Amino acid sequence: MEIKKVGVIGCGLMGHGICQVAAQGGFDVVACESDQGALDKGVARIERSIEKLASKSVAKGKRSEDDARAWAKEVRGRITSTSDTAALADCDLVIEAIVENLDVKKTLFAGLGKVCKPETVFASNTSSFPIGEMAAASGRPARFVGLHFFNPVQLMRLVEVVRTDETDEDVFASARAFGESCGKVPVACKDTPGFVVNRLLVPYMVQSIQMLDRGDATKEDIDAAMQYGCGYPMGPLTLTDYVGLDTTLSILEGWTNRYPDEAAFAIPASLREKVASGKLGRKTGEGYYKWDGDKKS
Ligand SMILES: NC(=O)c1ccc[n+]([C@@H]2O[C@H](COP(=O)([O-])OP(=O)(O)OC[C@H]3O[C@@H](n4cnc5c(N)ncnc54)[C@H](O)[C@@H]3O)[C@@H](O)[C@H]2O)c1
Repeated sequence: MEIKKVGVIGCGLMGHGICQVAAQGGFDVVACESDQGALDKGVARIERSIEKLASKSVAKGKRSEDDARAWAKEVRGRITSTSDTAALADCDLVIEAIVENLDVKKTLFAGLGKVCKPETVFASNTSSFPIGEMAAASGRPARFVGLHFFNPVQLMRLVEVVRTDETDEDVFASARAFGESCGKVPVACKDTPGFVVNRLLVPYMVQSIQMLDRGDATKEDIDAAMQYGCGYPMGPLTLTDYVGLDTTLSILEGWTNRYPDEAAFAIPASLREKVASGKLGRKTGEGYYKWDGDKKS
């Protein structure tokens, strides 16, 4: 099956980037938000990001100013916008990137299942919920995948393409090809908690917190060990502060509810305590480190 027209629901941090990379990949894109105010913000964000990329390509000598202007106009021209999901009825693929709340997502997909043409493929960008539950709610489980992009979507090359036991092979192949056309490297994964990246990354963050809580090493030494010993761009405790302690906790709570016996998902006491006291990481100025904007203070 051929994908030409793509709907993206939610134009926040992830959705605006997905709109952009899909338009850059040559797809007609319909950006959808919950209301006009959020839609205007999302579209403005997409426009700024396209302009930024166009300017960069001029600065790097990849395009002339005229070519960059024409390119930006062409990419922008492929994107239309709406606050009504009925406008997504004839899309070949609809990608959901709304708030990380399973009930809200299930309600959205149940509605989409009624308004979209029967062939439309549905995808969720969820980081932590089972794809199968949303697939069931949509009423078309064979035409449902996970398409898990990474932040910032415009720069990160990976997309995880997630299939359930019921996902049709052609649907999966089309979703994978879509990811490639957006300039991404797709990897295939079954519908398991955290897919590939977060299943490895979140327990690694948990282990580093447990190590700190036990007093095995200081936070600075744990981070330096992984940065200089493994070549990672930052250590696990800095990473946890970047991701957000609240986000990390909510992912772990979802997993421990479903898999209470999985030791790798055990929630460290200090993580709960910090979240309860509003220390959510870089965004609140304190998590495992104290932060002054983007810098540890
Ligand atoms: N932030 C990340 O690093 C990251 C990475 C990968 C995946 N994700 C996943 O992507 C999804 C979106 O995350 P985000 O960080 O972009 O969130 P965000 O809060 O930046 O954006 C969500 C957007 O969805 C809109 N929205 C909410 N409910 C809606 C509805 N019913 N209909 C239409 N629009 C609606 C909101 O107005 C908002 O603009 C989540 O499922 C999250 O788990 C996030």
